[in-house]
Amino acid sequence: MLFLFFLLIFKDGVDSMQLDMVKLIEENIDDTIDPCDDFYRHACRKDQSRGSTFFYVIQRSFWKEMNDLMRSGKNEDLFRKIEKLENLISSLKSDSFDDTSAVRFEYMEKCINNKTRAREMLLELNKLIYNNENGDCCFTNIDFDTNCERSATNLVNGLKEHLVNGLEMEARENWKNFLGYLNNFKAYLWLQANNDLVIRSREMFTMLRDDFMESVEQTPWLINSDSVKAVIEISNQLKLVDTELVIDFNQNQVDASIQEYNDCHLFTSETARKYCYATIKVPETDENWNSINAFNFHPYLSLNNPFIAILSSNSTPAIEYGSVGYVLGHEFGHTLIKTKSDHMFIPYFSEQVKTCVQNQFNKSCSFFKEGLCHTGDYQFDENGADIFGGQLVYEAFKKRHSCSVNKSIRGYEYCWTPAKLFFYSMAAVDCHREDSVSWMDDPHHAPKIRVNAVLAQIPDFAEVFQCDAKSNMMQSRSVSFIC
Ligand SMILES: *[C@@H]1O[C@H](CO)[C@@H](O)[C@H](O)[C@H]1NC(C)=O
Ligand SMILES: *[C@@H]1O[C@H](CO)[C@@H](O)[C@H](O)[C@H]1NC(C)=O
Ligand SMILES: *[C@@H]1O[C@H](CO)[C@@H](O)[C@H](O)[C@H]1NC(C)=O
Repeated sequence: MLFLFFLLIFKDGVDSMQLDMVKLIEENIDDTIDPCDDFYRHACRKDQSRGSTFFYVIQRSFWKEMNDLMRSGKNEDLFRKIEKLENLISSLKSDSFDDTSAVRFEYMEKCINNKTRAREMLLELNKLIYNNENGDCCFTNIDFDTNCERSATNLVNGLKEHLVNGLEMEARENWKNFLGYLNNFKAYLWLQANNDLVIRSREMFTMLRDDFMESVEQTPWLINSDSVKAVIEISNQLKLVDTELVIDFNQNQVDASIQEYNDCHLFTSETARKYCYATIKVPETDENWNSINAFNFHPYLSLNNPFIAILSSNSTPAIEYGSVGYVLGHEFGHTLIKTKSDHMFIPYFSEQVKTCVQNQFNKSCSFFKEGLCHTGDYQFDENGADIFGGQLVYEAFKKRHSCSVNKSIRGYEYCWTPAKLFFYSMAAVDCHREDSVSWMDDPHHAPKIRVNAVLAQIPDFAEVFQCDAKSNMMQSRSVSFIC
């Protein structure tokens, strides 16, 4: 089983920016909403402009940096080739073969104006589709027909019969995977160039793993069920992966694809070229790790590059713990939190904890829903990992930075303390403008519910924001507060 933090789609970057995480967080704040009434919508305004949410900005900046790196120095040549392929893939995607009017138009134009060119087009298609060089079969029969309109129709029907549908879909799938493959490669180069950040993310991982094991030793249901030793053992197996998973990039395969691409270029007919591109064999790819921001695939735990990039912005520990740390904490949670039917490594799981977690999400739903808001068994692994991860990382933060939690951070519009920033950055990584809803096919709860439910389970939240007992954030706490 693969457990994710959430799914994200990367977009390519356009502008470069020196990121100030605190400022990004400030820009997402909605002052008309009291943090004690609805922290998520206070920290994540609905009316922000498209593309200005915290994590989106970070991703965009990260991809920009990654592409700049590719364009520079020793990677330049490879980058050019890759860029060409990427552009081709984009054009294939937007240019469906189902739309046969372009084929019809090309053939008609040639048939009417120059029969030799029309015949060349048919020969090219024969070669491509039937592997037939001498031209005495297949599509070539079409040009015995002097009625250009009718022969164009016959050509289109012939192509449809032999090519479209299955082949096209397969080709697109291949290309899509290949695009992911190329992204993996870029990300790999970025990681190599930013080894200091990789080291820091590993340090954070190790620190949280130590805290994780400590919390395991103090967890009543694990102690009572004699499961501490088992959990410590599996926690010891966990390791953070980054470069290992993308390192299998095979440049020979890429070169072979580029060669095929260049061969397709030689076809003079546009139709033939297009079909040729669609049949290029692209390298077999692993999963596209880069479309996943973090996962726990025992024993591998992975944190993807945009999160590692957060560590590069000289932000405060509060932001690093609240964002990067929280995501890691969530993934650690997956090692411990399991639905009853999926114990995997843990011999026993506490029903009490499960009820507590699900009640909290259900209650948060009734206070904060913005549309569909389900709390079902299918979400338990994620809901539990959220709550566990939030608590784990907040405790880690307090333990190491308690002397500074109330210290003010100057130079910003808002009056910041590290403790406040910690909570805001938790909300920031899951901030979306759209209505926050839960889906039956996604085990992650609605982003807004995730954030507000986790904060409801961290007692210090109320203290930091001085929330009144009557406020929504306090009222939405589950009866069995602290799971
Ligand atoms: C027709 O096309 C062929 C091949 O492209 C070319 O050699 C020939 O000159 C063209 N004929 C006319 C009349 O344009
Ligand atoms: C969730 O809360 C609603 C009330 O808002 C309640 O009717 C329902 O039974 C609860 N569901 C679960 C699974 O606890
Ligand atoms: C931080 O401030 C809160 C009150 O605002 C106080 O209760 C808490 O003890 C302070 N923490 C530290 C570490 O000084």
